[in-house]
Amino acid sequence: MSNISIIAAVSENYGIGKLNKLPWHLPADLKYFKHLTSGHAIIMGKRTFESLPNGALPNRKNIVLTSTMSEGVNEAYYEADSLEDALFLCEKEEEVFIIGGTSVYEQTIDKVNSLYITWVHAQISADAFFPKIDLEKWLELSREDFPADDKNEHPYSFVHYKRK
Ligand SMILES: NC(=O)c1ccc[n+]([C@@H]2O[C@H](COP(=O)([O-])OP(=O)(O)OC[C@H]3O[C@@H](n4cnc5c(N)ncnc54)[C@H](OP(=O)(O)O)[C@@H]3O)[C@@H](O)[C@H]2O)c1
Repeated sequence: MSNISIIAAVSENYGIGKLNKLPWHLPADLKYFKHLTSGHAIIMGKRTFESLPNGALPNRKNIVLTSTMSEGVNEAYYEADSLEDALFLCEKEEEVFIIGGTSVYEQTIDKVNSLYITWVHAQISADAFFPKIDLEKWLELSREDFPADDKNEHPYSFVHYKRK
């Protein structure tokens, strides 16, 4: 059975996006995301897919949820018209990451067994939000804290939670 995790960068006011983009510049988080997800399957909503500057992410099995499937076969990514179908496409994968956005996080937060949250320590103006995390239900397995620096505009923490 696959290990299914959510991965998200979330501000203190639970913001995750604005105008279908990430509302911050945190290259360290993009590097961390790449490190964790490379070689594995990633499931995302259509809007998140559309926000990727160069389309499907390399070295990962990309699965895009959409109710309007394209015709023909696309070599860079798979499409699924239900979460069940997306998970079926990942049946043989050891690690599966749910990578957003809001609608997909809302559908999966009660189903996944782990959360990789990058807490962005700032109040951010956003129009897309992560569902509230009930920290009573999650055990913090690891945490790394970093200050802002010349490349990363806010302090941030990489936190891995496991469902209790
Ligand atoms: N900070 C982070 O870590 C992070 C990560 C990812 C995204 N984001 C942000 O999140 C925002 C996007 O979130 P969003 O909620 O607007 O969009 P989204 O979840 O990325 O995509 C929504 C679309 O996905 C499809 N979809 C979702 N669930 C489905 C299902 N069960 N079956 C079939 N299709 C399904 C639908 O596409 P159709 O309309 O084609 O049917 C739906 O309109 C952006 O601002 C983005 O930058 C942030």
